[in-house]
Amino acid sequence: MRKFPGARRLIATGAVLLAAVSLQPLSSAQAAPSPVVGGTRAAQGEFPFMVRLSMGCGGALYTQQIVLTAAHCVSGSGANTSITATAGVVDLQNSAATKVRSTRVLQAPGYNGTGKDWALVKLAAPINQPTLKIATSTAYNSGTFTVAGWGAAREGGAQQRYLLKASVPFVSDASCQQSYGSSLVPGEELCAGYQAGGTDTCQGDSGGPMFRRDNAGAWVQVGIVSWGQGCARPNYPGVYTEVSTFASQIASAAATL
Ligand code: ARG
Repeated sequence: MRKFPGARRLIATGAVLLAAVSLQPLSSAQAAPSPVVGGTRAAQGEFPFMVRLSMGCGGALYTQQIVLTAAHCVSGSGANTSITATAGVVDLQNSAATKVRSTRVLQAPGYNGTGKDWALVKLAAPINQPTLKIATSTAYNSGTFTVAGWGAAREGGAQQRYLLKASVPFVSDASCQQSYGSSLVPGEELCAGYQAGGTDTCQGDSGGPMFRRDNAGAWVQVGIVSWGQGCARPNYPGVYTEVSTFASQIASAAATL
């Protein structure tokens, strides 16, 4: 049993509802947008591999026709034409957005709500945007990461119209276990965030990538937004699927789609 059973699954469901009602400009009465939580707006084209999925999750283009997202964002594996992927824009209301339907979903084999939080969504047509390569070793599981998404900008907050981004530092498994105990699956999950809180991914960011620059200066995906206790709380870092652990499984699964 997870220590915080509610922290994870509620979110995708909540995000669907929020996404349906809250993609509107922020009113000027609100504080400056703090994205993701504690971030800033991404520039158009800054993260061209970012995808918004219609169930209220994020994702990244693994290939131009396959989106890598979280297992908890999808309901299982098989033919599925119910998901719309929106790409090519930071503003979800931009009429220039590319919108493509799903044809199939592949949820991580053995996914049961603990660890293994990855899934692939096959699209009906390729999206003409750069893809995001995934980490195939643990070499980049350290340092400072970038996260981005259209999810809530504060705990319990609305989904966002504009893509937000933030930077979060790596948190060791040992330190993350101090927060989450046995809920953390250290071989399959990676934590990131500030001890003081304030910056984090949040509801609706799930499935989106956590990434950094590799030694050649290219973006490489090291995580998938998965779960956390609340958002941006002190001493509760965000928990991300450790992409390097699943890189070969993801590659072979993608080859079957
Ligand atoms: N499970 C959430 C979702 O479905 C993501 C939660 C991330 N939480 C965090 N504190 N980093 O959108």
